[in-house]
Amino acid sequence: MVARQLIDLFRSHVEGNDERFRTTMLQVAANEARKGHVNVAQEIQKLATRGPQIVRHSTSQQGSNSVPFGRPDGEMSDLLEMVEPLVGLKNMVLPAPLRSRLERVVREQKHFSRLREHGLMPRRRLLLLGPPGCGKTMTAHAVAHDLGLPLFVVRLDALFTKFLGETASKLRLVFNAIEQQRAVFLFDEFDSLVLSRGGQHDVAEMRRVLNSFLVFLDQLRGHSLVIAASNHPEALDAALFRRFDDVLTYHAPSQDELAEVLRGRLCGQAGAEKLDWPQILKTADGLSFAECARAADDAMKERLIEELPCLTTDVVVAAIKERSASSPNIQVKRVLRKSPNAKKTVRSGKTG
Ligand SMILES: Nc1ncnc2c1ncn2[C@@H]1O[C@H](COP(=O)(O)OP(=O)(O)O)[C@@H](O)[C@H]1O
Ligand SMILES: [Mg+2]
Repeated sequence: MVARQLIDLFRSHVEGNDERFRTTMLQVAANEARKGHVNVAQEIQKLATRGPQIVRHSTSQQGSNSVPFGRPDGEMSDLLEMVEPLVGLKNMVLPAPLRSRLERVVREQKHFSRLREHGLMPRRRLLLLGPPGCGKTMTAHAVAHDLGLPLFVVRLDALFTKFLGETASKLRLVFNAIEQQRAVFLFDEFDSLVLSRGGQHDVAEMRRVLNSFLVFLDQLRGHSLVIAASNHPEALDAALFRRFDDVLTYHAPSQDELAEVLRGRLCGQAGAEKLDWPQILKTADGLSFAECARAADDAMKERLIEELPCLTTDVVVAAIKERSASSPNIQVKRVLRKSPNAKKTVRSGKTG
């Protein structure tokens, strides 16, 4: 490994820049591959591309600022999934007003005790709304990371399938856990509490569950932060919004924001400085952050597999085009362009 890369690795670790860490790992893998060290290259590459930025929490992995927290066991392990958040708000591309609102949540949470001593309640119930792939789930990770708290993802799917008929009572267990231990709890795809997908759930039960959720949320005690996220704000009753301390709306990324995500991911690659950015951004127009991030990873993987000495505009553009071809956003746009009346019947799918 060249000294430069070693320094890059150290720097990205110290700065908590996981994206850069990953990019440098891929560079090291490429170097090793070029030297004929195929096994080493493959092992590093596997580590660098392993899953999303989510790793299971274990006591040995806890960062120094993490609060020790037991992994849910027994019944709770069906209801809550514990994940170690690895990205912070500084790793996210966010419009300034949204960033400052999220930073305020973190600040208030950090001063929980002082605010409580003066009879004030920090923000602790957030609703995140917006199209898929724009960073709602990532925000829950980032906020937990910046607070040094573990993140628990509430398994709404299990609540509705495994515990069908006793969903409301299981939800009470979840809220008990929320009140007992300080952490960030994410109700992702929150609209599934409201939408009876494909009509497979009893409407009366759904209503009961939602009512219980709102009562639990109203009566929430303890220091935890509850984050609900939804791709389908139109499915949510506006009356529900006022139960949250903050409702934050995410938007599809602008060209500048897409450029920032792509550059952030590709910046460590040889040849990145020579890329034809206007052409790349033109091709990426309409993609979500998530799709762009995946296209960038695809391009880096292609470079490794093909053992290219540097990244080229063609490789990046081809990766983006491939992602565009399967992007629901872009397909919806195409349909709308062909038929302006189609808007009512087409609804963007999930990608994030
Ligand atoms: N605002 C953002 N800044 C940087 N990367 C982002 C952002 N939003 C999404 N991404 C990338 O896309 C991936 C998926 O985003 P996610 O948070 O799951 O979207 P959502 O929950 O809104 O559907 C993230 O893991 C990250 O790589
Ligand atoms: Mg999500």
